[in-house]
Amino acid sequence: MLLANRVILVTGTARGIGAAIAEVCVREGALVYCADRDYTATRQVGERRWELPCDVARDEDLQRCIAAAPRLDGLVNNAGVNFLKPFLETTMEDYDRVLNIDLRAVFRLTQLAARAMPDGGSIVNISSVHSLAGVPGAAPYDAAKAGVIGLTKSLAVELAPMKIRVNAISPGLIETQIWRDLLATIDEPKPYLDYWYSNIPQARLIQPEEIAELTAFLLSPRASCITGANITADAGMTAQLVSREPQV
Ligand SMILES: NC(=O)c1ccc[n+]([C@@H]2O[C@H](COP(=O)([O-])OP(=O)(O)OC[C@H]3O[C@@H](n4cnc5c(N)ncnc54)[C@H](O)[C@@H]3O)[C@@H](O)[C@H]2O)c1
Repeated sequence: MLLANRVILVTGTARGIGAAIAEVCVREGALVYCADRDYTATRQVGERRWELPCDVARDEDLQRCIAAAPRLDGLVNNAGVNFLKPFLETTMEDYDRVLNIDLRAVFRLTQLAARAMPDGGSIVNISSVHSLAGVPGAAPYDAAKAGVIGLTKSLAVELAPMKIRVNAISPGLIETQIWRDLLATIDEPKPYLDYWYSNIPQARLIQPEEIAELTAFLLSPRASCITGANITADAGMTAQLVSREPQV
């Protein structure tokens, strides 16, 4: 097992990518502390999984999560919120909400977690392809996700003497429940999907488990020389310069 006896804290685990990451980490032998604002009580679920109510934007919640674990070998900063609104209509409240969850919390929780890693460890930040290219209406999200990459590189360098590795994953389009719900609202999903597939060389959506497997690898000693990396897991999306849709 990749993560036998490792103690790992994962944020944003109630659904989506974070739920898959927690599941793969448990399967690989880790003791997993799952933090999400959707949990209503602290409880143990099975032998190797704890659920902790936590809003990552609240410092006291983050401190409670760190105190709940005996020590840490790994941290996955996964909790995140996306947001689409024209730039000229975006309020500073909108901006602060996204930045607090998607960037500030990553900074603060990593700081708290690194202090709880006496034997070194591995930190994985779930960024996005938005860290590499922008989308109209997503300025706060794009800024936050690009910021996560800067933080990842800076901390990879600074924490290397403590034997702590820090890496980022930039997923492309993932088939989470939110995506399935969105598709269900569209009368004719085929042209919509065709549009997306023309922008994804593998012409498919990515499953949350595929991101989880990569995360488990980065958390494990098999990734021992990898630090400061931003690994795109996007089915080729950011490798393609122009869409394969017929030119009009
Ligand atoms: N889904 C995609 O296509 C995609 C692509 C690239 C990157 N990402 C990134 O992957 C991560 C997970 O995305 P997802 O699609 O699984 O999202 P999701 O919305 O399905 O799940 C996010 C989880 O985070 C939790 N969460 C949100 N805000 C929180 C807060 N303040 N405190 C604690 N928990 C909070 C939610 O309750 C939920 O369980 C995010 O950082 C997102 O930006 C997603």
